[in-house]
Amino acid sequence: MADARTREMKRILVVGLACLDIINTVDRYPREDEDTRALSQRWQKGGNAANTAVVLTQTLDTSCELLCSLNTGIEGQYVKEDLQKRGVLIENCPVNKNCGFPTSCVLINSVCGSRTIIHARNNLPELELTDFDKLDLSLYSWIHFEGRRNVDEIIKMIKKVRDFGREQKLQIKISVEFEKKRPEFEPLFKVEADVIFIGKDFAQFSGFTTPEETVNGLSTQVHSTSVLICPWGERGAVARGCDKEICSSPAYPPERVVDTLGAGDTFIAGVIFCLNRGRLIKDAIQFGCQLAGKKCGIQGFDGLK
Ligand code: ADP
Ligand code: FRU
Repeated sequence: MADARTREMKRILVVGLACLDIINTVDRYPREDEDTRALSQRWQKGGNAANTAVVLTQTLDTSCELLCSLNTGIEGQYVKEDLQKRGVLIENCPVNKNCGFPTSCVLINSVCGSRTIIHARNNLPELELTDFDKLDLSLYSWIHFEGRRNVDEIIKMIKKVRDFGREQKLQIKISVEFEKKRPEFEPLFKVEADVIFIGKDFAQFSGFTTPEETVNGLSTQVHSTSVLICPWGERGAVARGCDKEICSSPAYPPERVVDTLGAGDTFIAGVIFCLNRGRLIKDAIQFGCQLAGKKCGIQGFDGLK
């Protein structure tokens, strides 16, 4: 109990991408080469790590820090101010000069809530171990890493956390998310993570057709102590504990699905929030699905509370 309270008082750190989302909401998906009008157009901060950090802070009232690359341009400054406004701690983020900022053009079909994303990285440098070295690791109870192309650097960061935890006798939990399949991810799969999130895209690209198949099929490829969790849109989510036990949660669809952008990031925030407080895996994925379902019923992330 004392341990759960100490964990709650510490920060959750999320490491990964912040980007700009330029969102066009449309009333039907356009035809190729069509010139059409949007119902609305807005800028929104995006990126899996940034979305997860905002839900943890703004919706779940958790002290959460984001480590992401920013830049000095208009887009980077917009994202920085938006994160600050929502209470996300960003004091350790490197701010790069003379480079672009990752940007997504997103089409949201307001009839079914589908989101079509075209993302460009725009030469912003990825995070390196030197950025991570600035952190005081004793501040965090949980560190979540978004699996990205800087795999070697992420592996070094995770090793640093594990070594620090052993030296200081601190239990810092680690989770890693794999959203899209990339060959370079293979070594990251084997790290000593407490929780591994597998996205539906990653799973389907690996040849799996259900979340159950995914967590069972991948269980031999990950560290023996890693819990595998696979969210899968309208099917909800499935988890496999290190005791081999499988549990699942249905999805909780809202009355009308209007915007599924960031549903997966919201799910991850909900699950980490619960597990950080010592809740059971089954309860954590159920809470994640409830929160993500609610998010699908609203535009953006405001009003998710
Ligand atoms: P991503 O945003 O990464 O594509 P998913 O589509 O797998 O993520 O969705 C993540 C979670 O969000 C699911 O486990 C589910 O709980 C919820 N979710 C997503 N789409 C819907 C939907 N149409 N209705 C209800 N819940 C949904
Ligand atoms: C949603 C999201 C968007 C971003 C894209 C990057 O999960 O993080 O905010 O544009 O994915 O892949």
